[in-house]
Amino acid sequence: MFETLDEARKACKNCTKCKLHKTRTNTVFGEGVVNNKIILIGEAPGFWEDKQGKPFVGKAGILLDKILASVGFSRDKNIYICNTIKCRPPENRDPEEDEKEACREYLDTQINIMRPKIILICGRVALESMFNKKMSITRVRGQWFDGPNGSKMMPIFHPSYLLRNDSREKGSPKWLMWQDIKEVKRLYDTL
Ligand code: URA
Repeated sequence: MFETLDEARKACKNCTKCKLHKTRTNTVFGEGVVNNKIILIGEAPGFWEDKQGKPFVGKAGILLDKILASVGFSRDKNIYICNTIKCRPPENRDPEEDEKEACREYLDTQINIMRPKIILICGRVALESMFNKKMSITRVRGQWFDGPNGSKMMPIFHPSYLLRNDSREKGSPKWLMWQDIKEVKRLYDTL
C-alpha cells in the first residue's frame, strides 16, 4: 500500500503490472475533491477517458455529472471519482481477474487515504469488484452496505445503462437512480 495519494498516482502512471499497460494511452487514476465525505467508484476507463486521462468524460460521464449535479455534487466542489481499474480494457471489455487484482492496490490506497464516509459503487463491474463475488446490481442498488473504515456504500446503476433505457416512468432505471441519488444526498447532509 502507498503512503500518499501522490505516490500512488505516480506509480499508477508508469504501471506495467498487467497487460492493459500495453494498449492504454493514459492511465486514469481519479479526479475530484480529495478528503470530502463521498467518492464514486466506476468500472474502467473507456475510449475518451483513455484519451484524456480523466474518469467519466464520455457520454456516460456527462450523464453522471448531471445526475450528481441534480443534488449538488460535483468533482469541483465535493466528490472524488475514480474506477476499479485504471487502464482501459481493449474494446471496453470487462476487466479480467488478474487485471483487477493487479490494480486493486491503487483503489485500496484511494479509499484508505481519503476515508470517505460514503462510497457509491457504480455498476455491476464495480459492485462485483468491491464485494468480490457475482452480484446483481438490480437487486442491490439503492441499499446501504457497511464499507471500509466505517463508511456506507451504496451500489447505483451505471450511467451507460441509463443511456440505454430512456424511460423516466416510475420504476424505470432512471427513476430508480433519482430515488437513489436523493437518498445519498439525505445521508450526506447528516454526516
Ligand atoms: N465508465 C466507467 O465506469 N468509468 C469511466 O471512467 C468511464 C466510463
